[in-house]
Parts: sequence; structure tokens; C-alpha cells
Amino acid sequence: MLTQHFGNDGALPFWVADMDFRSPDVVIDSLIKRSEHGIFGYEYKKENYFDALVNWYENRHRWLIDLNHIEFCPSVLNGISILINQHSDKGDGIIIQPPVFFEFRLVIRSNNRNIIKNPLNVVDGKYQMNFDDLEEKAANPKTKIMIICNPHNPVGRVWTRGELSRAGEICRQHNVLLISDEIHGDIVYKPHQYTPFSSISDELARISATCLSPAKTFNISGVIDAMTVIANEEYRDRFHEFAHRYHINKTNVFASAAIEAAYSQGGKWLDELLSYLRANIDFLKSYLHDNLPQVRLIEPEGTYLAWLNFEELGLDAKELEKFLAQKAQLALNSGYWFGREGAGYSRMNIACPKSILHEALLRLTNAARKHL
Ligand SMILES: Cc1ncc(COP(=O)(O)O)c(C=O)c1O
Repeated sequence: MLTQHFGNDGALPFWVADMDFRSPDVVIDSLIKRSEHGIFGYEYKKENYFDALVNWYENRHRWLIDLNHIEFCPSVLNGISILINQHSDKGDGIIIQPPVFFEFRLVIRSNNRNIIKNPLNVVDGKYQMNFDDLEEKAANPKTKIMIICNPHNPVGRVWTRGELSRAGEICRQHNVLLISDEIHGDIVYKPHQYTPFSSISDELARISATCLSPAKTFNISGVIDAMTVIANEEYRDRFHEFAHRYHINKTNVFASAAIEAAYSQGGKWLDELLSYLRANIDFLKSYLHDNLPQVRLIEPEGTYLAWLNFEELGLDAKELEKFLAQKAQLALNSGYWFGREGAGYSRMNIACPKSILHEALLRLTNAARKHL
């Protein structure tokens, strides 16, 4: 894959959004125990699973999820694709906020819908939503859906209650369904706080669908199961009917074992992880400040993804990509993958041992000194 994407299999990888760290022991032990059981027939999700899920969101995020509002499907993107199909027709418009997770673009295109861009603005080095532009785009009768990424991959914003309410209100006024992708919701650094969109008000919950998954939090993207929370009964019935018709909501015994353990016993592990990630971000920030001030970190409020501004190097998007992969020997996601608004930037996954991050920064500094 490294050769295919970066033309260099010696590049240190910082691109895919999963972590170098082992999952919590409680998850691993639960998977081992489930394997040793030796019988892997049909299974339903058990009460303990639901309790663990609901308690996690209530205790950590002060959001009491009504169990009846949850629909299961194998992955977040799977849920988003179904919602796109159910709430828009071919040729309709779907709003996204670039630079943003590139799969949003792909899932919209593969469903033959149109991408409507509501690009984020950078104000004093901080990304903000452009509400005037959003109002204009949402008012177009062909616009049917908006996808929000909260926290936002790749720029690391944790949207505030005020920002989410304002975007939601615009969608409500124009009959636009708001899909909130909250897969990164657990990875948030104090004092920032993740606000589940659906927890803001019943009114906004009714015009939205929220996609959740423990995949990023516990590094279990390969043990798949995701939840779509839909408060609106009519929308939920539609989703449920589809999931039933295509048999996508079966229980995977390993996903259930991993998720129940993670949500019931993984809190301490997550707190330690957040401290480690925070320290990596601080290290990255001070290292760049002291050694390579031409590269500026857009400090993440959430996610383990660092959004780096390389514009001062004076390279165009392709030259920057080549510089990083060939000269610095680093596999980062080029900013333009997230939309042309990301040109001049790169995304770096910092969920790795500090020593590896340090090695990457040495490589980057050496290459930049030769270039500058
Ligand atoms: C914002 C966001 N949504 C969805 C996904 C993918 O989720 P899933 O594998 O459950 O489809 C990712 C993975 O990087 C992501 O960053």
C-alpha cells in the first residue's frame, strides 16, 4: 500500500486513521474468552451490551440515548450511505464542509448525488463554519442532506453546542437532514467538550441521524459494528426496514464481545490514552516551534489527527506530497485528499509512540533544512 500511494515503501506511516497501540486488555481478554467458548452460532445482542453502550454515553457525554432509537449496521460509512439513499434522490445535493474526511465525497459520488461544498474558513488560525454560505446552500431546494463531522477530521475542531445548534437550525428551516458523524467523539482534549448533536434538543434530534462507533476510541476498526441513532420515528422505521430487508443488522459475536467490554470497562484506558495523545500533541507543537517554525500545527481540539500547514515551504500540492514521501520519507495524507481547500496542508496521525513521532520530526526537519 505504501508503494502504491507514496511510491516509497520506506516511508514511515502516519496516514491511516487507526492507532499503533494495542486495544485495552479488557477488550483483548473478552475476545480471547469469546474465542475459547468455541461456539459461534447466531447470537442476539445481550442486555449487558446495551447497558454498557447507554451508560458510556450517559456517563461520559451526558447523553441519554433511548435504546429504541438505535439502528445497527456494520460501519459508519455504511449507515451514511443508507441515509443518503433514503433521504435524497439521484442528482440531489449533499452539503459537506471541506477540508473533510475524503470518504464523504466518495460515498456521495458513488450514490450519484452532488457534492455541495460549504468550506470551512480559517479565522486567526482556527477553522470555523461559514454560516452565511451554509444558509445559501441549504436554501437550494435540491439540497437534501448535510453531513457534519464532529469532531472534525482532519482539522480537529470539536464543534461547540452553539455552532452545532446554528448549523442544525439552518438545516431545520430548509428541510435538510443533518447527518452527524461522531466516530471521533471520545477523542477530545480538555477543556473542549464533545456535544452529541442529538443531545442539543428534541427538535434538532428529529431532523438528524447520528453515526456512532467505538472503532476509533478503542482501535477496533477491524471488529466492525456501528450504531445509527435516529430519534425521528418515521426516519428510523425506514432505516430499520432497509436493514431488515438487506439483512445487515446481524450480530457479530466478536464485535459484541469487544464493544461490551470496551464500553463497560475501557474508561480508564481511554483516560490514559488521552493523556498520552495530549502529550504527543504538545511535543509536536513545541518541536515545530523550536526547530521548524515554517510548519505550523493547527492544534487539534479532538481526534488523534494533526493538521499541518506547510504553505511556508512554498511548494504546490504535488511537490509537497513528493517532498514528504521521497525527501522526508513520511507517509502523511496530503491535504488536497480532503478537498482542494486542504492544499498546502498534510494530515499526520499522532497515535503512535513518542519515539516514532520524534523520528518523523527528525526526518522532516532534515529534509526541510536541505530544501529551505
Ligand atoms: C469521520 C470518519 N467517519 C467514518 C470513518 C470510517 O468509519 P467506518 O470504518 O465505521 O465506516 C472514519 C475513518 O477514518 C472517519 O474518520
